[in-house]
Parts: sequence; structure tokens; C-alpha cells
Amino acid sequence: MRSSVAVILATFHLLLFSGFCNGGTVGICYGRNADDLPTPDKAVQLIKSQNIKYARIYDSNIQVIKAFANTGIELVIGIPNSDLLPFSQFQSNADTWLRNSVLPYYPATKINFITVGAEVTEAPNNVSAMLVPAMQNVFTALRKAGLHRRIKVSSTHSLGVLSRSFPPSAGAFNSKHAFFLRPMLEFLAENDSPFMVDVYPYYAYADSSSNVSLDYALFESSSEVIDPNTGLLYTNMLDAQIDAINYALMGLNFKTIKIMITETGWPSKGSPNETGATPDNAQTYNTNLIRHIVNDGGTPAKPGVAMDAYVFSLFNENRKPGLDSERNWGVFFPDQTSVYNLDFTGRGVVARPPDANNTTISNGTSWCIAVMGASEADLQHGLDWACGSGNVDCTPIQPKQPCFEPDNLASHASYAFNSYYQQNGASEVACAFGGAGFRTSKNPSYDSCIYATFGANGTTAAAGNATALSSAKPSSSTAASSGSDFGVPTRGVAFFVIASVVALLLYL
Ligand SMILES: *[C@@H]1O[C@H](CO)[C@@H](O)[C@H](O)[C@H]1NC(C)=O
Ligand SMILES: *[C@@H]1O[C@H](CO)[C@@H](O)[C@H](O)[C@H]1NC(C)=O
Ligand SMILES: *[C@@H]1O[C@H](CO)[C@@H](O)[C@H](O)[C@H]1NC(C)=O
Ligand SMILES: *[C@@H]1O[C@H](CO)[C@@H](O)[C@H](O)[C@H]1NC(C)=O
Ligand SMILES: *[C@@H]1O[C@H](CO)[C@@H](O)[C@H](O)[C@H]1NC(C)=O
Ligand SMILES: *[C@@H]1O[C@H](CO)[C@@H](O)[C@H](O)[C@H]1NC(C)=O
Ligand SMILES: *[C@@H]1O[C@H](CO)[C@@H](O)[C@H](O)[C@H]1NC(C)=O
Ligand SMILES: *[C@@H]1O[C@H](CO)[C@@H](O)[C@H](O)[C@H]1NC(C)=O
Repeated sequence: MRSSVAVILATFHLLLFSGFCNGGTVGICYGRNADDLPTPDKAVQLIKSQNIKYARIYDSNIQVIKAFANTGIELVIGIPNSDLLPFSQFQSNADTWLRNSVLPYYPATKINFITVGAEVTEAPNNVSAMLVPAMQNVFTALRKAGLHRRIKVSSTHSLGVLSRSFPPSAGAFNSKHAFFLRPMLEFLAENDSPFMVDVYPYYAYADSSSNVSLDYALFESSSEVIDPNTGLLYTNMLDAQIDAINYALMGLNFKTIKIMITETGWPSKGSPNETGATPDNAQTYNTNLIRHIVNDGGTPAKPGVAMDAYVFSLFNENRKPGLDSERNWGVFFPDQTSVYNLDFTGRGVVARPPDANNTTISNGTSWCIAVMGASEADLQHGLDWACGSGNVDCTPIQPKQPCFEPDNLASHASYAFNSYYQQNGASEVACAFGGAGFRTSKNPSYDSCIYATFGANGTTAAAGNATALSSAKPSSSTAASSGSDFGVPTRGVAFFVIASVVALLLYL
């Protein structure tokens, strides 16, 4: 009973965060530095089809802005570094641009931010001094149009604005950028605009693989890095990088400015010496990133402060110069097929490659999930078997049940594999599934979809009553016979409703 109460409390906590506090939102960057991309209309259809509600573009191309009209998608548009000079020089330039490039398409296209300049500290020409005057002029133009509260003005930065980022509590801005950063931060604080940052744990790993483990960069680490000054524990690189900025902001006494991640991602392919750039790593990073942003909200230094993030990028962009990885950040190929599957709702199960270290599992709590890259045939075969002869209760992966979404084979197979595994002693052989199963020490549960653990009450209760996948129905008789507190439709739902009300009352 204790353990199920703990599970329910944990779930309830999750509900609190996802339901009432609202975790962060996830968007996608739509870069167009390529000569083989689909039309903007098709690209926007693709974004819609993925249920993505936020997007970022790097300019104010009218065809693109129009393509987002009436989609409900909120759009970040940008003024490139090359335009900072005219925007900084004359108010009239900003007014004209707003009148011609924004107002005719607003609010049909829901523009929510204008980024003025992008990573100016990385620009080949020194345009930093023009940044704040250009931001001021764009802001003034918006104010004259009465839109300065609806459309926020900011600018994106690389981590190059910091002189120190480790440990996070020592995060500090580089004093050589103070001449424009300080007035910019004042502008952001005054106008309630976020500090925008492009963060890439990939580069931290690629540049220093001896010091940064791949697992830590991919949110897969089972160990923690301790910040010796604060005692805070970091389980992933992204949080550490974001907190370095949080501490840099606090160091300058800008305590209210929120951080927004305007780019992050992982390349799926690279030059021969870019060994971390693989589709598996890209899928793992982005899947975990999205789950982290949507479900967790906040960092060790700012727990509960939700952060929004934009995944870089929608398409591979063949005209980007540099290493091979530069042209392979896309989640999609230009022909709109996916480079790897990515669930933007944040509820995807992370399948892990079978060669990961599993030696620590034999003792502690473990789960069994589908191996990333297992064939559909193997997954289907394993799923059918688990829900059939395997005697697993597959009700929770039926439509309208807690583990139905995301509605894909890997996710359903993972749930069924795990139930079978737990019912059969959580032994290695119970997770074989012809090579399609993989044992992990990471709890794959999400939302109200709770993956069973060995020995927890209810995990073996359904074993006596085989339920074929095709015939499984949500039925209260299963609930009564299993005596389980979770994975049970009727009682479970009722409990969550009550729990939510209690949670809300407690919260108020
Ligand atoms: C299951 O719950 C009962 C009380 O309802 C408890 O006595 C028993 O120890 C639990 N079993 C396990 C394996 O947790
Ligand atoms: C850029 O220009 C500003 C003033 O225009 C100057 O203070 C700063 O040092 C320059 N930065 C670099 C990197 O040259
Ligand atoms: C790893 O960290 C050490 C100590 O902080 C540093 O001296 C070394 O340069 C780092 N190595 C790489 C490849 O960054
Ligand atoms: C990887 O190889 C490219 C050339 O293909 C080279 O320019 C780059 O510096 C190399 N990177 C590392 C980290 O060795
Ligand atoms: C697995 O992890 C253990 C303990 O952390 C370590 O001793 C072992 O070398 C690792 N094995 C592999 C193949 O990485
Ligand atoms: C886990 O490790 C054992 C030996 O340590 C090995 O025999 C087994 O194949 C591994 N399982 C997976 C799924 O990697
Ligand atoms: C592993 O199991 C042994 C015996 O059951 C126990 O004494 C030990 O504390 C366990 N270790 C971990 C890390 O759970
Ligand atoms: C299986 O179901 C039947 C009828 O639905 C019930 O009488 C029986 O106790 C169940 N067996 C187990 C092990 O739950």
C-alpha cells in the first residue's frame, strides 16, 4: 500500500506541475538556409501535423509569416544582425518595417516575440553597440502601434556571453560585453522580456568529451554533478548551463528576468570525428529535453520556474557552412520525412540502445522497455505475445486509457514488455522479447501512465487472467480483481479527479 500511495503522490505531484503550474512549452526553429526545402505552406502544415504550437523564424519573410496565418501557432520573428545598423540609426526605419512586415499580418499570424539581432557576440562584425538602440526603436514602434505588451522584444545570445559557467553558481557575464549587456538587461527587466539563449550541450560534449559524459549531455546520467558552492545536484548539462546564466543574472542583481531557450538540439550526423552526432543521440536528447521542459519545469537553482524551449531545427539545412553536423540538425529531411521519431508532447518513452551499461540494474528497481531501433515486426510480435499468452493486462494502452498516448508501437510495446517483466520476477530473461526488450534503471512512467515495478502491489494480480490486446476493454471487473491502485480505469480516474481537487485546494 505504501508504495502505491507513493506512486499516486508522485503522480499527483506531476499533475500539480503539468496541470496547474504549467510546465514550459516547446517550439521548433524553422531555419531556411537551404535550397531544397518545401514551400513555407508545406513546412507550416508539417509543424501543425506534429502538434507544435510555437515556432521561431530568423527574419520577417512575408511569405513565411503569411503561411502561419490562422494556424494558432505562436511565432517568434527576427531582425538579422545585418539589419541592426539601420534599425539602430533611425526610429523611422523601425516604424516602416513594423508597418510593412508585421502589422498587415497581425494578429492573423500570432507573433509573440521579435528577436533583434542574434548571438551578436559571435557575429563576425562587431554590431554589439547597435543592439540596444535597435531594440529600443523596435519597442517604440510597437508601442506606437499599441502592441508593446503583446509582442515582446528581446535578442538571442550564445553562452559566449559568459566568462565562467562552471560550477553553475560561478556563472558570470564576460565583462568585455558589459557595455551592451547591462543596458540590454535593464531593457529586458523594464519590459518584462525574457533573456534568450541558445544552449548546446552537444558542443560541451563534442569539445570536451573527456570531461562531459555523453549521458550527462543527453539527460541520461544516473549520477549527479554537485555544485560545491550551493550543494545543488545537477543530473544534466542543460540545467547546469541554464543555471550558469541564472547566477550571472543574479550576480548583476537582475533577479526577475526569465530565461527562454531560443535554440537547443542535437545533430543526427557529423564528420567522422564528430562521433556524438548520431540519429539515436539526437532522438534521445530531444525526447528527454521535451519531457524535461514539459514535465519538470525549472532548474535546480530555480525549481518550478517553467522555461520555454525551441528545438533546433525543423529541417536539415544544406547550405550551412562548416562541419557536417552543421547541415544535420533537422528533425526532418527536406522531403518532410523524419530523420528520427520525436514526440513533441513530452510523453514519449525513451528507448535506450541495447549496449548501454546494465550492470547496476540487477539489484535496484528496474523497468523493461522497447529497444530503440527494434523492428516494427519484432515490437508487434512482442506486444501481441505479452498481451496474449504473456497474460499482461493491456487495458492501460487502449484508447482513452492513461498509457494510450503517445499512440505508437514503441510506447505500447514498452508498457506491455514492462508489465510482463515485472510479473515474471524482473529477471533478465523476462525482458528478452527476441532482442526487442531492454532493461533500464530509469522510470519510464509519465503523466498518469504508471509503469509497474517488481513487488509493488497489483503488478502480478492480472497475471491469472489473460487479456488479449484486441479484446481488452476498460472494465471495472479487472479493477476489482486486481486490487491495484493504478492502471485501473474507473477507480483510477475517480481518484485523480479527487486528488486534483484536493491538490488544488492545498495549492490555494
Ligand atoms: C500489499 O498490500 C498489503 C496491504 O494492502 C500489504 O500488507 C502487503 O505487504 C503489500 N504487498 C507488497 C508486496 O507490497
Ligand atoms: C565592439 O565595439 C564596442 C564599441 O563600439 C567596443 O567597446 C567593443 O570592445 C568592441 N568589441 C570587440 C570584440 O571588438
Ligand atoms: C577538463 O577539465 C580540466 C580541469 O577542469 C581542464 O584542465 C581540461 O582542459 C579539460 N579538458 C578538456 C578537453 O576540456
Ligand atoms: C574534425 O575534422 C574537421 C575536418 O574534417 C576539422 O576541421 C575539425 O577541427 C575536427 N574537429 C576535431 C574536434 O578534431
Ligand atoms: C558498467 O558500469 C560499471 C559500474 O559503474 C563499470 O565498472 C563498468 O566498467 C561499466 N561497463 C561498461 C561496459 O561500460
Ligand atoms: C546486460 O549485462 C549482461 C552481463 O553483464 C549481458 O549478458 C546482457 O546481455 C546485458 N543486457 C543488455 C540488454 O545489454
Ligand atoms: C543489493 O542487494 C543486497 C542484498 O539483497 C543489499 O544488501 C544491497 O543493499 C542492495 N544494493 C542496492 C544498491 O540496492
Ligand atoms: C480471473 O477472472 C475470474 C473471473 O473474472 C475470477 O473469478 C478469477 O479470480 C480471476 N483470477 C485471478 C487470478 O485474478
